This record gives sequence, structure tokens and C-alpha cells, in this order.
Amino acid sequence: MRYLPKLFENNRRWVAEKTSVDPDFFARQQNSQEPPFLWIGCADSRVPANEIVGLEPGQLFVHRNVANIVAEDDGNLQAALQYAVDNLKVRHVIVCGHYGCGGVQAAMGDPVEPPLEDWIDHIRRIYRDRQAQLDAIEDMDARWRKLCEVNVAEQVANVCASRIVSDAWRRGQQVVIHGWIYDLGSGLLEDLDLTTDGLRAEPGSTDDGVATSSTRDSP
Ligand code: CO
Repeated sequence: MRYLPKLFENNRRWVAEKTSVDPDFFARQQNSQEPPFLWIGCADSRVPANEIVGLEPGQLFVHRNVANIVAEDDGNLQAALQYAVDNLKVRHVIVCGHYGCGGVQAAMGDPVEPPLEDWIDHIRRIYRDRQAQLDAIEDMDARWRKLCEVNVAEQVANVCASRIVSDAWRRGQQVVIHGWIYDLGSGLLEDLDLTTDGLRAEPGSTDDGVATSSTRDSP
């Protein structure tokens, strides 16, 4: 092994540890996955999804990007959401932001080079929409923290408004959307109380949640 031998050593040790307590662990892994959760989080190395919620391989379907953005035109995110909801039938979608998010901070500062700037612009728009409220917070750290929270709320709303989730709700599939934030300094998660299960009728919805014209296949 010529490159990064330490990482391969770590991998071998991890396999040995797993199989010492559960010899069939990897045999089961290769058959299927039935994770109850989709995690949409920041790519930040300090926010390792499985680790901070104590979940094993197979329990958490994960999509991470810079600043946990849920964009309608992001085929990567939307494909992960589609697979998680339509195929894996996850019961919960967790959007998890974090305080100290560099992507969110960048949106409070001068433009950066594309393509990062194009991505950060999703958060600049959120900032502009709430500029008066955010600028009223004089302490810059507090303003940054608030924008981290507002960003989570906005991305939860984007998940709820997505065609994939609204179609799932319309056909009666149970999928609950959550907005959480992680504190790098304490390691603690906080529920931002944004939980939505789709049972309340959305404005413009045409019926009581019973699918009328869906041609999607049942599993
Ligand atoms: Co971040």
C-alpha cells in the first residue's frame, strides 16, 4: 500500500472491531439498506453525520454539501431526496445545519470566486430577504448564528416544497421533515422546532391528501 497507509490501517482495524462483536455485520450490509433517516447536512469535516447521532452503517442515508443547501435545481440533492423518499421510504428527513458554518459566514461577506460564489448565493438571497432582521443584530457572531438557524429553516421549507416530498404526502406516505442545528463547541444537537409532517393542508393543495392522479408505482 503506497498511499495513505494510515487510513487503510484504520479501515482494517474498524473491520476487525465490527466483526469481533458481530461476525455477520458485513454479510448483512451487502444485502440491502433500510435506513429510516435521510440526513441533509453540511460538508464540514467537523459534522460527521453518523457519529454525532450514534448511528451505524445502514441507518442513515446521507447527503452533504456546503452549508446544507436544498436547491430545487440541484440534481444531486434532488436525486438523493428522490431515492431516499421514493425507494428507501425513509420516515424522517433531517436538515442539520451547524453554528460556525463557513458557507453561511461567506454569505455575509464579500463575493468569492465561482463556482463557490454561485452556491453561496443561495444563502445571500436568504440574507437579503431578512436583511432588516439580521442587520438589527449588532454582534456579528450572534448574527452569524441567527443566519445559520434561518438557513436551516429555509432549507426545511425547500424540502417540504419539493415535488418529491409533496407528492409523497399527497399519496399518504409518512415522511416527517426536521430542522436541527449542531454546536461545534459543545457537540450538542438542538431541534429548531420546525418539524413538519405534511398533515396540515398546504395552501393551494387540491384535496385532503388522497392521491388522485398519481401514476407512480406502489412498491
Ligand atoms: Co458548514
